[in-house]
Amino acid sequence: MAYSFDKIIDRRGTDSLKYDLAARRGMPGNVIPLWVADMDFPSPPEVLEALVEKSRHGIFGYSDTISDDYFNALADWYSNRFGWQLSPKWLVKTPGVVFAICTAIRALTDEGDAVLIQEPVYYPFAGSVRANDRKLVVNELVYRDGRYSIDFADFEEKIEKNRVKLFILCSPHNPVGRVWTKEELAAMGEICLKYGVKVVADEIHEDFVYPGYRHHVFETVMPEFADITITCTGPTKTFNMAGLQISNVFISNTDLRKRFKQELERTGYSQPNIMGLVACRAAYRHGAKWLDDLISYLVSNLDLLRDFLRKELPFIRLVEPEGTYLVWLDFRALGLPDKELNELIVHKAGLWLNSGPMFGAGGEGYQRINIGCPAAILQEALERLKKAFNKV
Ligand SMILES: Cc1ncc(COP(=O)(O)O)c(C=O)c1O
Repeated sequence: MAYSFDKIIDRRGTDSLKYDLAARRGMPGNVIPLWVADMDFPSPPEVLEALVEKSRHGIFGYSDTISDDYFNALADWYSNRFGWQLSPKWLVKTPGVVFAICTAIRALTDEGDAVLIQEPVYYPFAGSVRANDRKLVVNELVYRDGRYSIDFADFEEKIEKNRVKLFILCSPHNPVGRVWTKEELAAMGEICLKYGVKVVADEIHEDFVYPGYRHHVFETVMPEFADITITCTGPTKTFNMAGLQISNVFISNTDLRKRFKQELERTGYSQPNIMGLVACRAAYRHGAKWLDDLISYLVSNLDLLRDFLRKELPFIRLVEPEGTYLVWLDFRALGLPDKELNELIVHKAGLWLNSGPMFGAGGEGYQRINIGCPAAILQEALERLKKAFNKV
């Protein structure tokens, strides 16, 4: 590997949500945080260099993607990785994917309209629907024989019965780690077409796909899907720069794009953050090898986690992820209520994970662990888990 991910960098005292919120949330001082979705790795060196160069220039005035460089970096990335040919006019930049989801909810639905999500799912989905006074409708994913799948009959029934206007798709799926197949995406999209449902496809985890799986851009699965879809992406998960707040939303349908842009205008947001633009362009232009090495590193972290659980903690079941660096762990064999389980994990093991119920229906008895960290940190976390649970 050209890049190494083993170095432990102290993030404490850097105003990091992942590390520095621990005390305020009542966590023990030495807690290992493996919760929020950022990684303990620096961004690719080429991104750091581009940011330093911009800092040296020293002027951070209003900026935007006026030259073609930014779009071309994106277009090459999506063409090479996903076979998706982008058009410059589809691109709308926002300061984040959750921001884009909230904007899309307001642009495409009215107060009280029903919005469908698939729980357990990234918790801001439900939060965004509720905060915008829309009605939350849940198509719960089904966990059977160690794998999550979609109950399509329920998906259609919920849409029809509640007159759902918008579906928020999480692809790849956080936290259950599914990389949806073309057939699954086609089946969901066809139901949405049948009932006039628009789709917000949150594809922020698109670059984290393990060997043997392939991410399909939802709106490319069938030509008609492009007319009902807003695709939300960003370099911030892939290259670990969430704090730089830049995301790229692609809207190929003219009417949807117009409605989204009008809503964006209402928020008062105009030009993006210059450092986000600089980092994004450098990442997509120069970050491919770094990302490939990172995926190999995550595969070995996943092996470490799987082997450790099998040998030392066989009652904790790993839900095999097909993508993302977030792993869904099934603690249900212990039969503990979530409150007790959290207490044990936080105060006995000294780990900060995400408790399953945060992700909505079907989250009870599960925890999400973030393996985007040096292997030594993961190893230490697992040793702590073993010590704590072997005393239960
Ligand atoms: C599925 C999903 N969407 C969106 C986000 C956050 O995106 P942003 O920081 O751009 O709002 C995350 C972060 O964990 C995520 O997992």
